[in-house]
Amino acid sequence: MLLTLLTTLLMCLPVGEAQTLSSPDGNLEMTFVLSEDGSPNYALQYKGGNVVMPSVLGYKFRGRASAKTPENYMRVGYDTLDFHSGFRVKDVQRSTFDQTWSPVWGEESRIRNNYNELAVTLEKDGIDMIVRFRLFDDGLGFRYEFPQQKGLRYFTVLDELTEFRMAGDHMAWWLAGDYDTQEYNYGESRLSQVRDLLPGTLIDGASQHVVAPTAVQTSLQMKTDGGLYVNIHEAALIDYPTMTLILDDEDFSFKADLTPDATGYRGRLCAPCSSPWRTVMVVDDARKVLASRLILNLNESCALDDVSWIRPVKYMGVWWEMITGMSAYAYGGAKAHGAESGNVRRYIDFASEHGFDAVLVEGWNEGWSDWFGKQKDEVFDFVTPAPDFDIEGLNEYAHSKGIRLMMHHETSSSVVNYERCIDDAFDMMKRYGYDAVKTGYVGNIIPYGEHHYGQFMVNHYNRVLRKAAEHKIMVNGHEAVRPTGICRTYPNLVGNESALGMEFRSQVLPHHVTILPFTRLQGGPMDFTPGIFEMDMSKLRASSRQQIHSTLCKQLALYVTQASPLQMAGDLPEHYLRHMDAFQFIKDVALDWERSVYLEAEPGDYVVTARQAKGSGEWFVGGVTDENAREMTVSLDFLEPGKKYVARIYRDAPDADGVSNTYETGSEACSRYEIIEKKVTSKTKLKLHMAPSGGFAISIK
Ligand code: NOJ
Ligand code: CA
Repeated sequence: MLLTLLTTLLMCLPVGEAQTLSSPDGNLEMTFVLSEDGSPNYALQYKGGNVVMPSVLGYKFRGRASAKTPENYMRVGYDTLDFHSGFRVKDVQRSTFDQTWSPVWGEESRIRNNYNELAVTLEKDGIDMIVRFRLFDDGLGFRYEFPQQKGLRYFTVLDELTEFRMAGDHMAWWLAGDYDTQEYNYGESRLSQVRDLLPGTLIDGASQHVVAPTAVQTSLQMKTDGGLYVNIHEAALIDYPTMTLILDDEDFSFKADLTPDATGYRGRLCAPCSSPWRTVMVVDDARKVLASRLILNLNESCALDDVSWIRPVKYMGVWWEMITGMSAYAYGGAKAHGAESGNVRRYIDFASEHGFDAVLVEGWNEGWSDWFGKQKDEVFDFVTPAPDFDIEGLNEYAHSKGIRLMMHHETSSSVVNYERCIDDAFDMMKRYGYDAVKTGYVGNIIPYGEHHYGQFMVNHYNRVLRKAAEHKIMVNGHEAVRPTGICRTYPNLVGNESALGMEFRSQVLPHHVTILPFTRLQGGPMDFTPGIFEMDMSKLRASSRQQIHSTLCKQLALYVTQASPLQMAGDLPEHYLRHMDAFQFIKDVALDWERSVYLEAEPGDYVVTARQAKGSGEWFVGGVTDENAREMTVSLDFLEPGKKYVARIYRDAPDADGVSNTYETGSEACSRYEIIEKKVTSKTKLKLHMAPSGGFAISIK
């Protein structure tokens, strides 16, 4: 009787009636509704104005074969299981959450996680799917959940149908959608212009697969004509393919596009499971985008019991000389081998003398002469050093000088091979005292047909992280999937590349670093490798005509505007020796922060950030601009009132210029800077000039 009553009650739940959810401050309102045919939709408003117009939720799955026919055993013979209409609302749950947590490292020592939650259980043909919404003051997160149940166990995704319908032709800072690379320049345009401009943002690489003429990656930053900043991304990408967005440039809507696997499927799931969070950040000030912790908050808390071994790392590397073609990764060729023991010792000496923590050595192992450009399964074994790299002696030497060597595992994207070797590789690292590895995934993925951002690879990157954690090893993954806040759960993920970094030299556009904090860095820190002091690449390699378009002070500022617990001083020791006064900033700057204050910001234009170091309480300020010179007034009102401080200011000289350098003119104007010291208080306002593609850096004691 009771059961029948309950069932009847449940059946009577108002299908079609909207469920609304407000953010804690009441500014955002999310509406969920089932349309007449039982299709789930959501919409998002900010102070009553539309941000996301009613947008589709749901999936197409591969159907179960009902009869044993040959067709049903052929992939094409399987039915499409409609998981986007014909639902009824079975249950609705609401809750509120408000907690403050402390990350192991990061932009601030305490983070508030405050949201209202709505979980809607949808039912179709006896199968349940929950859509869970979390609405924060700075945006929305939602995900699909498939509880453990009869009737759904293993299933295959044909398509995730999630839409994000924008309310207009917004300005956007976008990266071309690609299943294999993020090493492109950002486009800056209205949504309606993406199609025309996208080809011009592409950069040739070792593995690329552009998704569609209007496909863009997340995190995607937009700005409405009304001045709202809207950012779409995903959080907690675990056991699921990465989402790209396909733009319909006539009605300004985006549809999710999941990275396919080698057989064309878009994910293989096993209940109980859930999708990553789909996120829509909405704020009314660009600085609030930088201050948002939406992505981290939607990740699970730290999964590691012991984090005492995870530490910030400032490092140098036997690296820039290879990237620029001065010396070789490979041993035994015509060019000098960068990782030769005497050369490595030279870096160890310099790094130790200037207070660094580590030295990365690339090309230390065998395999490099037999790799690039070939798709080959077994290239590296990750344990055999080149004959001139004295692994034991160099580690001992480094340790005697307070330096750790940093391991490099270029996997050549042969992931099967890396997984075969990884236990031995990590064991060897521990034997010699390495505690950090830079991984790399250059080239097409092996197994053939898999993409860098497919579910198989997402699982691989996360497996490496967990395995590294078992060995107390920190990871910095290059060419890996764009981060989605996973570093909260696995704080040994101290860095990722996953975007165009300084190693692209002249290809890095002046506005690039004014966009990264809004986009790529939303998911976690980047190993951008700043600190380049010599902008003229012909000085390193006579045949090069490349010029880096940045002033020296802008390079300093990046240590603050792009927070990371892992920071490299990318350039060569001899280039630092020429500017020891400016190098002082790199030596001084902190890597882990008590507090961050976002002073000025506009995507594509400029970013000015102040951060207080954890422990010492010292402040560091960084400012960067795009190709335009700017005059900035920086108020130091974040300092403690009544206290007196000394500020050391590194600024572009009045005639500095980070943009106009060519091979013919040389790059002298890039490195015109001034360093002044000044007494300051919380009442001080500093007027600072930024040259074209320039910047400034300040340390305050
Ligand atoms: C690409 C990485 O981003 C770069 O830093 C590294 O030196 C090369 N791959 C070689 O593995
Ligand atoms: Ca790279």
